[in-house]
Amino acid sequence: MPKTLILLFHPHLERSRANKALCEAAHGLPDVEIVDMQALYPDGRIDTDAEVHRLIAADRIVFQFPLQWYSTPPLLKSWQDAVLTRMFYIAYEAEGAKLAGKPLLVVATAGNAPDAYAPDGANLFPLHDLLKPLRATAHRCGLAWAEPFLIYNAHKADDEALQAAAEHYVVRLGRLAATESGDKAA
Ligand SMILES: Cc1cc2nc3c(=O)[nH]c(=O)nc-3n(C[C@H](O)[C@H](O)[C@H](O)COP(=O)(O)O)c2cc1C
Repeated sequence: MPKTLILLFHPHLERSRANKALCEAAHGLPDVEIVDMQALYPDGRIDTDAEVHRLIAADRIVFQFPLQWYSTPPLLKSWQDAVLTRMFYIAYEAEGAKLAGKPLLVVATAGNAPDAYAPDGANLFPLHDLLKPLRATAHRCGLAWAEPFLIYNAHKADDEALQAAAEHYVVRLGRLAATESGDKAA
C-alpha cells in the first residue's frame, strides 16, 4: 500500500504537547508510519542504510519538528548530512533518483505567534521564508514541495487548540495521501 512516512525530530518528546498531539492524531491512520528519530538515534549516530531504505520505501515524506532558533532541531540537519548526501552525491542512480517526485510535507510547530513572524515583528521574517533551506533541499532532491503545515503559539496552546490542530493535521495528511507522485503536492 502507498505509504506516508512521518519522520519526527523532537529532542524531548517527553516534554512535548504540540508534536505529541499531532503524532497521537496521526498514529493509527491507514498507511502512515511515524518514526521517532530522537528515540532511534539518541546518540546522533544515524544508520544510513536503514534511513535510505525507509525513504525509498515511502510514497510521501513528512518532516515534523519544533522550530528551534529559527531552524530545525540538530538531528534533522545531521540526518540530511548523512542520508541525503549519500543518496544525492554518492549513490544518485541507485538511491537518490528513486525519490523523484515524492511529495515532501514540512510540519513545524513554533512557540511564537504569527505576528512575531511579520516584517515588523520580533522574528523579522515569515516562517515560510525561514523554511527556505528545506524548500531548496526538496528542490535539489526532486521532491515535490507541499505547502508547509505550521502551528503557531505551540507552547501556549490549550487542549482545545491542540485538538483542533491535530484534527487539521489528519485532514492534511489525507490530502497529501490523495496526491499522486509527480502532481503538485497538496
Ligand atoms: C531551544 C529552543 C529554541 C526555540 N526556538 C524557537 C524559535 O526560533 N521560534 C519559535 O517560534 N519558537 C521557538 N521555540 C519554541 C518551540 O518551537 C515550541 O516550544 C515548540 O514548537 C512546542 O512544541 P512541543 O510542545 O511539541 O515541544 C524554541 C524552543 C526551544 C527549546
